[in-house]
Amino acid sequence: MTQEKIRIFDTTLRDGEQSPGCSMHLDEKIKMARQLEQLGVDIIEAGFPIASEGDFNAVRAVSAECQNATIAALCRTVEGDIYRAAEALKGAKHSRIHTFVATSDIHLEYKLKKTRAEVLAMTRNAVRTAKGLADEVEFSAEDATRSDVDFLCEIFGVAVEEGATTINVPDTVGYTLPTEYSGLIRTVKERVVGDRDVTISVHCHNDLGLAVANSLAAVEAGARQVECTINGIGERAGNASLEEFVMACVVRADRMPFANNIDTTEIYRTSSLLTSIISFGVQPNKAIVGRNAFAHEAGIHQHGVLSNPLCYEIMTPESVGIMKNDIVLGKHSGRHALTARYEELGFTFGQDEIADIYTRFVALADKKKNIYEQDLIAIVNERPQAQLYAA
Ligand code: KIV
Ligand code: ZN
Repeated sequence: MTQEKIRIFDTTLRDGEQSPGCSMHLDEKIKMARQLEQLGVDIIEAGFPIASEGDFNAVRAVSAECQNATIAALCRTVEGDIYRAAEALKGAKHSRIHTFVATSDIHLEYKLKKTRAEVLAMTRNAVRTAKGLADEVEFSAEDATRSDVDFLCEIFGVAVEEGATTINVPDTVGYTLPTEYSGLIRTVKERVVGDRDVTISVHCHNDLGLAVANSLAAVEAGARQVECTINGIGERAGNASLEEFVMACVVRADRMPFANNIDTTEIYRTSSLLTSIISFGVQPNKAIVGRNAFAHEAGIHQHGVLSNPLCYEIMTPESVGIMKNDIVLGKHSGRHALTARYEELGFTFGQDEIADIYTRFVALADKKKNIYEQDLIAIVNERPQAQLYAA
């Protein structure tokens, strides 16, 4: 039986990049985009072209670079934004204009100062304009989870009528709960999509720590695109973490019988690359990619894992691309080996930096038998300079 597919829409370069400490230069965005393709994401949201010259250039460069992924550019439901996005996407092999407007009464009254009728008209015009300018159009109803459900369905209906093939139901402020969100997705599916070929997308923020749980609940209810970021970076508490969502689907395939294109063995490399670019890493106990995610400290756990890893491991480190070093790095390793390993992970350092890192590495190797890539990344993040950046 062929499994239904979940499209992975990565917004590390847009929603992720717009959060504090996460800005990236053009060459770094291109490097990330290459790695995201390697990871197998279906859609890369590369920026918000009207927002800045830098975002415009990033969307243009990523469009020229990527051959497999669809490249998305964000824009408001405003003609100027849409033309700018289309211009930036010109070189893309597969392009998507992603247009959004807020739909909750609180956003309409205090932010947009518009009536529902005005927002409906803007949506109609935006999707109609975008339709002729890119391969696909996605429409997002910002703050969907705090919007009146009748109005939400009405506006999605307009977007679909005008040719949007993906409708996104963002939990913009991370407010919803899993059962509530799955109910909303079912309503949109029944009242808007029916038997039309339209994909329901979800985009969850993590203000209550529920972004991944909400995304999973939405998929069970019929969503077939999940918007997420590497390491869960994004506005405020971040977006749904790509690695957590994907591994939940892999590990719990019994309950989540869906396919996706992600090569999970590229997860750790992608996470490390992002860490090497932005100003902070992930917390040690972060699921999937944290330094302690596969560490077993308690004696009873160590005994269990040694007898059979399945006692305490629901997935292997190797399945997400965390390899024990082939060239064993230990306290007798030289700076060259260490520098080379860091370069493989995407880090380059000056002479002074490597001297400091090497001292820290030897101190750790004195205490710890196996040095993993996670340890190397932790050494970088624990330096006083790194903490200064992260502050
Ligand atoms: O959180 C949000 O609502 C967004 C939209 C632009 C999709 O990022
Ligand atoms: Zn968002």
